Amino acid sequence: MSKQLLSGHTYEELKEEELKAFGFGSLRPWLYNMEFRSDDVIVKTFPKCGTTWMQEIVWTMLHNPNLDNPKADEFLWVRSEDISLDMMFDVETFKGQPPNYYLKNLYPDDILDRIKVVYVTRNPKDMIVSYSYFFEALKVFPVVSSMEETQKKLMTGQILYGPYWSHVKQAWQKRHHPNLHFVFYEDMKADIMSELRKLNEFLGTQLSEEKLEAIAQYTSFSSMKARGEPLQDDVFHKENKSDVTFFRKGKTGDWKNHFTPELQKKMDHWIKENIADTDLNLKWAL
Ligand code: A3P
Repeated sequence: MSKQLLSGHTYEELKEEELKAFGFGSLRPWLYNMEFRSDDVIVKTFPKCGTTWMQEIVWTMLHNPNLDNPKADEFLWVRSEDISLDMMFDVETFKGQPPNYYLKNLYPDDILDRIKVVYVTRNPKDMIVSYSYFFEALKVFPVVSSMEETQKKLMTGQILYGPYWSHVKQAWQKRHHPNLHFVFYEDMKADIMSELRKLNEFLGTQLSEEKLEAIAQYTSFSSMKARGEPLQDDVFHKENKSDVTFFRKGKTGDWKNHFTPELQKKMDHWIKENIADTDLNLKWAL
């Protein structure tokens, strides 16, 4: 396979670069020159903010509203292709750079004028706990070994997808664009039906209240967990994987069980500094 990519590099060249950087070759078709259809919907998030949950919701609303589509048994990330890295880095930037600095432009070209984007955010305290558990166990990407290290990397923008605040703020600034739907993970936890109704309107799916109820149940934490983990075991490097699970807790406020007073102080300072210039109203507990 030697199809030219946007950058002019071949698939083989990139794969070699990726293997060198990550020790893991994950390149998938999204790296090819991609043309969106006008009815495509992008789910965009910072890592560990509810990507998978929203992917399943949007896919189900669009393609499985009666919960009878046999395709639903396929791996979620095949049904809802992960193009996020493609949208966030250009390959020239990636070459020779540490893998932590992908973020170029969240909305390249005129993407919002052409297709719908659902953006989900989550408070960074819960996000960092989720991130730490997950990436401490994962073989690839910026590997972290403790909550402290993850927090430090988060605060210096050195985690996957780069600086958290610019990611969230870019989306927040564009929240009034008719093709951007901004959602808080915490609001989904507090009242999923209300969020599904808003999505129903945004996506134009016109699903009945009864169907939305069924989708809420089908995409609940316990239902999704029961249907299985979205990652194969071999992506984890921990021998004992019993404590490593993608569907970990799915709660808001779990950070209270993990932060030392010192960690909390540092996070609060970082949040205060970064929230000052925005009216973004993050929720820390339910
Ligand atoms: P926790 O680690 O706090 O449990 P992402 O999909 O962006 O990687 O986010 C993963 C986080 O979303 C994990 O958080 C995971 O448990 C949570 N999650 C996944 N599916 C969920 C669902 N149906 N309801 C609530 N939370 C969910």
